[in-house]
Amino acid sequence: MTRRTVRIAMNGVTGRMGHRQHLVRSVLAIREQGGLPLGDGTVIWPEPVLVGRRAHALRALAERYGLTEWSTDLDAVLADDSVEIYFDAQLTSARADALKKAVAAGKHVYTEKPTAADLAGALELARLAETAGVRHGCVQDKLFLPGLRKLKRLVDGGFFGEILSVRGEFGYWVFEGDWQPAQRPSWNYRAEDGGGIVVDMFPHWEYVLHELFGRVTSVTAHVATHVPRRWDEDGKPYAATADDAAYGIFRLEGGAIAQINSSWAVRVHRDELVEFQVDGTHGSAVAGLRGCRVQHRSATPKPVWNPDLPSAESFRAGWQEVPDNEEFDNGFKVQWELFLRHVVAGEPYHWDLLAGARGVQLAELGLRSAAEGRTLDVPELTL
Ligand SMILES: NC(=O)c1ccc[n+]([C@@H]2O[C@H](COP(=O)([O-])OP(=O)(O)OC[C@H]3O[C@@H](n4cnc5c(N)ncnc54)[C@H](O)[C@@H]3O)[C@@H](O)[C@H]2O)c1
Repeated sequence: MTRRTVRIAMNGVTGRMGHRQHLVRSVLAIREQGGLPLGDGTVIWPEPVLVGRRAHALRALAERYGLTEWSTDLDAVLADDSVEIYFDAQLTSARADALKKAVAAGKHVYTEKPTAADLAGALELARLAETAGVRHGCVQDKLFLPGLRKLKRLVDGGFFGEILSVRGEFGYWVFEGDWQPAQRPSWNYRAEDGGGIVVDMFPHWEYVLHELFGRVTSVTAHVATHVPRRWDEDGKPYAATADDAAYGIFRLEGGAIAQINSSWAVRVHRDELVEFQVDGTHGSAVAGLRGCRVQHRSATPKPVWNPDLPSAESFRAGWQEVPDNEEFDNGFKVQWELFLRHVVAGEPYHWDLLAGARGVQLAELGLRSAAEGRTLDVPELTL
């Protein structure tokens, strides 16, 4: 067995996503399982170099996980030839500049979404990375969730017949921060800091819709700031200047219509925090993060509208759970493993910065659609 160490500069690891999902549940989890075997006797061993602004926070994180390398000097880390990959989970507004520097330093780059603040910036990044010949990837974690994997299996197996529509419901109540602390960072609610639910969630909807049902060809969105005043991490009130709810309609290549509600001002009366209902001529499915239920046309009840009588039908009872049939690992980790294989073994990988730019494009057009009150076409992007 040959151990192939891959040193990864990880920026933003003190944050919610960088810490839990990327450092602990992905990179450290790969080490805990003994590395990532390539199948030819080589085992990839990721070696994180923690990068950030606050020395005390980085030192504490390194000590907690038995890591030795951390730095507040991004330029110095990027100048280190032994560092091969730069990873970014900083807040969105800090991302593009850091990624550009990393590409200029010849690093392979892997990044959280959205990749940049606007489409021009996202495309520029993708082009720079291509020109530099570095490998690049963008987190598209929802594709690797068990519920969506099962949904994809149904699509690929022809379960639905012709797919007619997709209805997505995403959201939960994010506390205002006064009488109970908010469970998301305050910058998410300030447009000037790169916040907003469209910028946050439309990139996810783009790749979910694209990879499962077809490319998004037009968008109609309505956005709102339902909760205009919130309290930050220090308990100080601030004006929520960003959208906290978005009601979007997306036309897909192939003709299906998707409609997705995204909201941080909704209370959950669902089985999961996100659910997609897909209706097709031959069957329907409802998929969440983990579960997926189906109803075939042969088992579809025939309701008759009569509000004068209590419903005799238990509609939920007529759905069948889709079995796992495989083991599902953490989606973030699965994508990290694919990216590491791409970097080390040159295996194909299409969740790249161009794919990331498509997400930024949909967010940008979604916000424009809402501002202008009209439906906008979504042109296909090329490098
Ligand atoms: N893939 C997903 O499902 C998913 C989910 C949530 C967030 N995200 C993305 O991950 C990124 C990080 O989100 P988060 O929720 O972890 O945010 P967070 O606020 O918890 O973390 C932000 C990180 O950026 C660092 N940072 C760098 N410069 C900063 C500055 N000037 N001000 C404040 N912090 C700064 C912070 O120290 C911290 O490490 C965002 O781009 C967000 O869009 C992705």
